Amino acid sequence: MFFVSDIIEKKKRGIKLSKEEIEFLIKGYVAGEIPDYQIAAFLMAVYFQGMDEEETTYLTLAMASSGEMIDLSKIDGVKVDKHSSGGIADTTSLVLIPLVASAGVKAAKMSGRGLGHTGGTIDKLESIPGFKTELSLEEFIENVNKIGAAITGQSKHLVPADKKLYALRDVTSTVDSIPLIASSIMSKKIAGGADKIVLDVKFGRGAFMKTYEEAKELAELMVKIGNLAGRETVAFVTDMEQPLGLAIGNSIEVIEAIETLKGNGHEDLINLCFELGSEMLLLSGLYKEKEEAIKVLKDNITSGKALQKFREIIKAQGGDEKVVEDYSLLPGAKYTLEVYPEEDGYVREIDALRLGLTAMKLGAGRQKKEDVIDLGVGIWIFKKVGDFSEKEKPLAKILANDKDKLNWAVKEVEESFILSKEKVPKRKVVWAKITGSEIIEYKS
Ligand code: URA
Ligand code: CA
Repeated sequence: MFFVSDIIEKKKRGIKLSKEEIEFLIKGYVAGEIPDYQIAAFLMAVYFQGMDEEETTYLTLAMASSGEMIDLSKIDGVKVDKHSSGGIADTTSLVLIPLVASAGVKAAKMSGRGLGHTGGTIDKLESIPGFKTELSLEEFIENVNKIGAAITGQSKHLVPADKKLYALRDVTSTVDSIPLIASSIMSKKIAGGADKIVLDVKFGRGAFMKTYEEAKELAELMVKIGNLAGRETVAFVTDMEQPLGLAIGNSIEVIEAIETLKGNGHEDLINLCFELGSEMLLLSGLYKEKEEAIKVLKDNITSGKALQKFREIIKAQGGDEKVVEDYSLLPGAKYTLEVYPEEDGYVREIDALRLGLTAMKLGAGRQKKEDVIDLGVGIWIFKKVGDFSEKEKPLAKILANDKDKLNWAVKEVEESFILSKEKVPKRKVVWAKITGSEIIEYKS
């Protein structure tokens, strides 16, 4: 017999909770038997006292089994999932899914929608005319078996415990707790049915985790949970201090992904895709050496195989695959305006968060869940940290469908770039790789 108030009291005092106590809380909360105010107190106690890796694993598993547990066993081969902790202009999944599928990996991807300054892969894909982002489980499995990849919105029945807990965390100032974030993310990955998981944990101005150290701690905890739950997990800690790649928006990120698959991608985005993608290839068991895996990915871009896979994915999900050649088929913007620097200089900082919020207010993202987004608007940036910028050349281009918003955004974009007279080093993208047995910190 458990009493909720005793469990809250224990956590308040920093005493470790048992598997049974944690399961009792989650089951009772999802069933509506435990009220929000008690769980709110519990969350705040966790915020201050933390949870160790065992408790966090119990919480994750209790959450994962609160709803549908997806069974992907009808897909032959090792299913490898990729997840990003969320960021600005994170075009990675759009490139990575066709890229790894072109190398034979079974890429069964469930993605989310954007909220606030972070974008979502599902919204981006909806820029492609006809593209169906809500596949039934049967269609999803059939497409992965047939062409090696499918991308769908998350099932509504997946992890109801996370939906309730997240909404409560949002209004009780308990979102930014490492065990709560880790259990929220990992419960969805585990319920999603993948055998192996590659995590991209971002840090910096445009991410949940503001510092490298915090992101590393979150990554280490998620790797431990995944491995304790029997799903081999590898995490990368990556930079989100400046936007990733050059496009921030929906249809323009689809263009960026296609260009990257054609071999014209920005080095930051493509290097991150090679790093995450080669790990997915190794985890799938189809490849043995990282160098070999990277070579296959590079070759598949050069030969057009990866781009062809993207066409197949678009076609299989009802979309118009001609977008790959003709970007005018994607939603556009009525107005564009280029932003120039006041003087020549090296780009020292690009405020990813401010640009993400500006893109959101232009209409590329939603402030509230119910908001309808404008797929054609966004911001192209032409310079990254470390690049030299001449005052005759634009730093960025704003795309808008509303003149007032366009004019408002100019100052936001201008002030998001800080230039200096001195040379500035480029930022490295991948900072660390964390597996069940080691932490490798990258030099450059
Ligand atoms: N992403 C999630 O899914 N959950 C969190 O708590 C934070 C980021
Ligand atoms: Ca981008």
